[in-house]
Amino acid sequence: MKNPHVKTRDLLTVMDLTPDEILSIFRFARKLKRDYKKGIHRNYMKNRSLAMIFEKSSTRTRVSFEAGMTQLGGHALFLSGADIQLGRGETVEDTARVLSRYVQGVMIRTFEHDKVESLARHAGIPVINGLTDSHHPCQALTDYFTIYERNRDIRPVKMTYIGDGNNVANSLIQTAALLGSSISVAAPIKFQPEASIIDSAMAVARQTGASIEITDDVERAVAGANYLYTDVWTSMGQEKETARRKKIFAGYRITSTLLKEAAPGCLVMHCLPAHRGEEIDEDVIESGQSIVFDQAENRLHVQKAIICALLGHGPKFGSLLHHFR
Ligand code: CP
Ligand code: NVA
Repeated sequence: MKNPHVKTRDLLTVMDLTPDEILSIFRFARKLKRDYKKGIHRNYMKNRSLAMIFEKSSTRTRVSFEAGMTQLGGHALFLSGADIQLGRGETVEDTARVLSRYVQGVMIRTFEHDKVESLARHAGIPVINGLTDSHHPCQALTDYFTIYERNRDIRPVKMTYIGDGNNVANSLIQTAALLGSSISVAAPIKFQPEASIIDSAMAVARQTGASIEITDDVERAVAGANYLYTDVWTSMGQEKETARRKKIFAGYRITSTLLKEAAPGCLVMHCLPAHRGEEIDEDVIESGQSIVFDQAENRLHVQKAIICALLGHGPKFGSLLHHFR
């Protein structure tokens, strides 16, 4: 259990952050990015370790968290779910308590979101969600940082997400809601984000002025879009449904024809990995309007800022989160 006398914060969904905290993380990520480009590294994580549990595959999340910890003067441990005792039936509760005795933070990528919640309840240290079936907060925060770099004021921006109403879509909706931005999600009726996500995001949107639209009509969603976003039709863990999903999602893809229906200068986003010829065409992802590799790069900078916000100590990080440890 967390020590009630030590304030720790988790990042399980984007909703764990306030709009001000998100913007503080963006500002700090921008500084870290500038420093990185100049070859400046500061040892904010000296003598601190981050355990990274992966029960699903990863390229970006694994490498950016690990490289990020190294650049901050700390250390990251890659723990494959299959190799640690968690994979042989040790409970997530015991795993949380044991890791809390060794390291200063845990990042986990797994299936059920409940598992991350349980880990966080029993860990005495901050827990970062590196993707569950329901959420991908580090991705969505990075995506909006990538927009922030271009627009600074995110509120007038319209993002349109096309495809599966999955973990990435859920986190994008929550981030747009918190930041008072506009998002339109076009997904087949049975694959739209679940009502609880939409309802809670709508409640936030009423306070921030965000606009959230969920539709199955791609053309309607794309009109006026400044950013067009898509993700794979079949997420990790759904492989058995691949053939069925290919048929269902055939009309939900970013093509150069669709891109012409968006606002002039619309940029194209994808969290990667991409399936060219399925949710996005080769000529679109390789075009000058694609910013997918900027998004991938920014995972490094934004996650370093998140690590500092959650695991950092001292007055330096006082302004990053309101209740940092
Ligand atoms: N976008 C993303 O999370 O990529 P990985 O699965 O490679 O970590
Ligand atoms: N929705 C995808 C995202 C991968 C980064 C998945 O969960 O597989």
